[in-house]
Amino acid sequence: MTTRRALRFSSIALPPGGHLAAWRHPSVQPDAGLDLAAVAAYARRIEEAGFSALFVADVAAVRGEHLDSLSRTTQASSFEPLTLLSALATLTERIGLVATATTSFNEPFHVARRLASLDHISGGRAGWNVDTSVVPREAGGFVRNEPDVHEERYERAEDFLRIVRELWDSYADDAIVADKRSGLYFRPGGRRPVGHAGTHFRVAGPLNVSRPPQGHPVIFQAASTPTGIAFAGRQADVVLAAARSIGDACAYRARLDGALVAAGRAPRSVQVWPGLSPIVASSEDEAAKRRDELQDLLHDDTPLPAVPDDTGGLLVVGTPEQVADRIAEWYEAGAADGFTVRFPLIPADADPFLDEVLPILARRGLFAPPEGATLRDFLGLSRPRRSAA
Ligand SMILES: Cc1cc2nc3c(=O)[nH]c(=O)nc-3n(C[C@H](O)[C@H](O)[C@H](O)COP(=O)(O)O)c2cc1C
Repeated sequence: MTTRRALRFSSIALPPGGHLAAWRHPSVQPDAGLDLAAVAAYARRIEEAGFSALFVADVAAVRGEHLDSLSRTTQASSFEPLTLLSALATLTERIGLVATATTSFNEPFHVARRLASLDHISGGRAGWNVDTSVVPREAGGFVRNEPDVHEERYERAEDFLRIVRELWDSYADDAIVADKRSGLYFRPGGRRPVGHAGTHFRVAGPLNVSRPPQGHPVIFQAASTPTGIAFAGRQADVVLAAARSIGDACAYRARLDGALVAAGRAPRSVQVWPGLSPIVASSEDEAAKRRDELQDLLHDDTPLPAVPDDTGGLLVVGTPEQVADRIAEWYEAGAADGFTVRFPLIPADADPFLDEVLPILARRGLFAPPEGATLRDFLGLSRPRRSAA
């Protein structure tokens, strides 16, 4: 009998927190999200506690049409994910670094090159959250106007992923010999072009970065529609689910399993990480008071959170034991292999979760800090072999 892998946790919120009004809370530095030292301190904190990944969400555009409400949130100014994570790679040692990058407004070569570089810089800790730009106004920042048709975006994404993987396989794992004596830096036979011609791209390659330490950085995706789930079934290693109940999450898993089988992959071979927003306090009353305190800081006309900030998932308010119980329930029902945690307020909501909830889960055998050196190791994923030419 195989034992089930312990739960994995990743953080999707950066300081000062995932709640729209977090920046106004008396306990935080309001512009912490634009302060590398503050973000790095948070990354090291969750790394120390045993989180597997720091996830940087992104929209490649200025968000929101309503300037009045936008001007009351931190959303209009944030760091580009791969740039931020390259800096964090040098300030952390054993946490996965997952960058969101869109397939609709990038070229495969750019994304393959940046992620391969991040994987080298971080010693194999890079991940890619593939998004196809659900937010139409992303087109506003770019010369090319991609047809805003869901199916076509996924067609392009499919092509995009195939090319990115081929680019990562440009070099054999042992192509770089760096032999001072013979003067040979890389084996010419250890490198090959891509030569892809399809509907959306014509890419000759090869990539100008050697094969990433993980072979391929880990692929994350947040699918919800049938087209998105079919895509995840073919392409993803981990899926971020917006499920709000155990029933939702199990139904989601069943749909994903269907997509996996259709793609010739084993059911359950892709991990499902629903969202989780925990508010932990010593009593239920105190936890509820903390939640209300943040809600009260919302300006009257602050908008409902827009994608990707409304990442759905499980909102749990309670004592450490109560929060651990809810998480255990999801795990035991097979509703989650991990969670994408969105702390409403950082560090106030992160501290009790990391210091109290995780140890309870560890004592119950549901959580253990990840082992190994690479993000693939942390998640129990094997390293892909270089494809045959
Ligand atoms: C945990 C989570 C994280 C997400 N992160 C992003 C993001 O960084 N950028 C973005 O544009 N959308 C993000 N989304 C939104 C998804 O792209 C959106 O749910 C989309 O509708 C899923 O794909 P589909 O509708 O094409 O199937 C996220 C969703 C979830 C659940």
